[in-house]
This record gives sequence, C-alpha cells and structure tokens, in this order.
Amino acid sequence: MAKTAVNRLTVKTEGNTPYDICLKNSFSSLAQELDGIGCGGRRLCIVSDSNVADLYLKEVMEYAKKCGKEVISFVFPAGEQSKTLATVQQLYETLIQAGFDRKDYLLALGGGVVGDLAGYAAATYLRGIRFVQIPTSLLAQIDSSVGGKTGVDFDQYKNMVGAFHQPSLVYINVPVLKTLPDDQLASGVGELLKYGLSFDADFYEWCIEHMEEIDERDSETMTCLIAKCCALKKYIVEKDPTEKGDRALLNFGHTIGHAIEKLKDFTLSHGACVALGTVAAAYISWQRGYLDEDEFYEIRDMNVGFGLPISFDGISVDDIIEATRSDKKMDAGQIRFILLKKLGKAQIVTDVTETEMREAIKSLKAD
Ligand code: GLY
Repeated sequence: MAKTAVNRLTVKTEGNTPYDICLKNSFSSLAQELDGIGCGGRRLCIVSDSNVADLYLKEVMEYAKKCGKEVISFVFPAGEQSKTLATVQQLYETLIQAGFDRKDYLLALGGGVVGDLAGYAAATYLRGIRFVQIPTSLLAQIDSSVGGKTGVDFDQYKNMVGAFHQPSLVYINVPVLKTLPDDQLASGVGELLKYGLSFDADFYEWCIEHMEEIDERDSETMTCLIAKCCALKKYIVEKDPTEKGDRALLNFGHTIGHAIEKLKDFTLSHGACVALGTVAAAYISWQRGYLDEDEFYEIRDMNVGFGLPISFDGISVDDIIEATRSDKKMDAGQIRFILLKKLGKAQIVTDVTETEMREAIKSLKAD
C-alpha cells in the first residue's frame, strides 16, 4: 500500500449533495472547511459526549466560532446507554431554545454513538438539517462517520430507529487517536480487520504487518489505513447508499456480533463483538471449505494480537441464535449472513443453517 495517503475524498451518492472526507493533523483548518460548506454566519451546535468534550470541546468550539454566528454545545453522558430517543429529545429541546432553523448545522464531535445520534437528530429536526461528522474514535473514522447511517437504539435493539442522512463534511483529525482508550482502539481494529477480510486480502496482510505501528497509533500508519478504509467505504456506499445490495457486505461479523453485544448488555465494545462475530463467520467459511484451516486460525489468532477476544462466556448458544432472529439483518425471515468465499472476498448468503451457526458459536464459548 502507498505510504502517502490521499487526504481528501469526495463521496457522491445519488440524490444527495456530494461531501468531502478530509484527513488532517489538527483541528486548525476546521473553520476554513466549515466555511467551505456554508456554515459561515450560521448557528452551530457541537454535539459531544462527556469523555470527548473534556478533551476537545473547547478547542473545536474556538475554531467553530471563527465561522459560525453563534456556537452552542450539547454534551451527553458517554456510553451506548445514552444512544436513545430520550437523548435526542433533549437535543431537540436545546436546538429549539437556541432558535435553530433549517439552515443551521450540527457538528458531531465524538465516536460512533455521538455521530449516529447527532446524525439522527439532524435527519429529523425540522425534517432535516445539515450536519458535520468530526469522528474521534478509530471506529468512527474508518466506518460509521461515512455513508449516512444514523440512528439510536430502542429497547436494547441496536440502531433500531434511524434514517439515512448524509453528512455535509467528514473532518478527521488523525492524531486525536492518541488519546483513545486502548479498548476503543481495539474496537476500531475489529472493524478495520473486517475491511481487509471482506474486500482486500493485501490490505488485511498490511494491517497485520503494521500491528505495532497501529498499537502505537503512529500518525502516518493511521492516516494510511483510515484513507484506505474511507476509500473502500466510499466505493461501497456510492454503489449502494441504502443497503439494497453490496453495502450489507460491511456487516461481515455483525450478525453474531450484534447478538453478543446485546446479550452482554453493551459491556463489550462493538468492535470486540464484531471481532467475535468475524471468527464465527470465518469458522463457517472454513467448515464449508471456502477457507483452509491455517487461514481460519490466522484470522482467529490475529484478534489476540490486536487485543480482541476470541471467546466469551455467560451467554447461551440458544440466546444468541434467538437474538440473531430479531436483528435487522433478516430478509423475509431468513438471516442474511456474510461469509468469506476466500480471504478478501465477502459474500451475502441466506442459506446458513441453524446447525452451522450453533457450531460456530460453540467454537467461541469459553464456558
Ligand atoms: N457500518 C456499516 C455501514 O455503514 O453500512
């Protein structure tokens, strides 16, 4: 992979205004970028969570003030438990009190929870206002900030209420990853490995070769891998913005991953659950003869190298099977499962049997 990363990509999806993803080394060009999309003289509300706000809200606010006519903030307690309609309602109240109209903007400063929630509020407030993604976690920088999926959880069902609403800009300040907690870095790596395994075997090998640099959050390495993932995501969402087809390939590892995440009551990070789901899906791929034994064990053992789990305890196989049935990844009652046809090539299948799933889940059980 090229050592010099592309630092600007434009995402064009049918019926939506194109938007840029820009990769930066600081927040210092935020005002200029915001001005470029029409934030000049508008009201801006920075939406963030309690962890990220402590670190970056003041700085982002200062840059935003160079552009907006009035800049306010809305900060909610960090964590998946805040990703609810109740938090969105509080945000609506804040916007109404501050007199936000349809030309004003939300800026989502944070990880996946912040981006999804702020995006959903932007999609629905006054039937839709514009918003900017300023992702601060690896997971958000490589995946959730791009492509316009927004939403909140509902009664423990992940992302059950949502909308497709494209951002006007994705501003990625790569060095903020230096302050990301280790488990959150690992969570992002869970999604990172998904890209390589599903779409590009060489990129998967590159990630393994750069394990140390990723662990150290080396800026050059992180910029390269974020640019690569964003380019892959751009390609997929431009072809299939609303997940009618190939966008579902991005859900590799998510069928069983989401079920574990829900049953563990969100105590395991999203990426850790995806990593477990990835091993389960790779197990089925191996059992079907699409992967050989060495490839399966390499996939599994790479989780360990990157600080991700390869087993879990405390929940039953039956409960996981049941939870996969209520997940969104169903197609007329059949589970849409993503398997690897080979390393770097994911495929959607609808014929995975309950027995195959049971065996795969059992292979992850530590108790
Ligand atoms: N994170 C999967 C998608 O955006 O489709």
